[in-house]
Amino acid sequence: MPRVRVKVDGATYRDEVEPRLLLVHYLRERLGKVGTPVGCDTTNCGACTVLMDGLSVKSCSVLAVQADEREITTIEGLGAGNGELHPLQRAFHEEHALQCGFCTPGMIMAALDLLRENPDPSDAQIREGLEGNLCRCTGYQNIVRAVRRAAGEMRRAPAGEAPGALPRKGGVA
Ligand code: FES
Ligand code: FES
Repeated sequence: MPRVRVKVDGATYRDEVEPRLLLVHYLRERLGKVGTPVGCDTTNCGACTVLMDGLSVKSCSVLAVQADEREITTIEGLGAGNGELHPLQRAFHEEHALQCGFCTPGMIMAALDLLRENPDPSDAQIREGLEGNLCRCTGYQNIVRAVRRAAGEMRRAPAGEAPGALPRKGGVA
């Protein structure tokens, strides 16, 4: 069986994986990263979005073997570790940008990638950036507001301390 060495939320894992194992199932079932949900398994909903070397990917569309020597960040790796929420997590909470919460991890990870590309997006750009992520509950209005609010906070963070300043090119150190 193929072996992978992958960094997930700061910890390095070495595992044998079935060639057909999807990254989302590796994360959830092997590593216990159940904060990343499976909504559709057909790359439609975006619920399973994580960052791979800083770029958002739908982890149901990536094989675990493709994560070899890559760095993965899930929603569980976003907070400061001392219980402090990431600005996007806080903004989603404060702007009531979730109801059932099923889409929220993927929505936040996709938004993080969007804000790295464009730290000051318009509402239209936020909607366009998140178009691969579906929400059945909120009507999107509060999600857009939350992303705009977090963007402002992240822009105001001192240089070098920008929350969510994850490496563009990762790889396993
Ligand atoms: S579970 Fe991956 S896109 Fe829906
Ligand atoms: S909050 Fe329920 S699907 Fe988005």
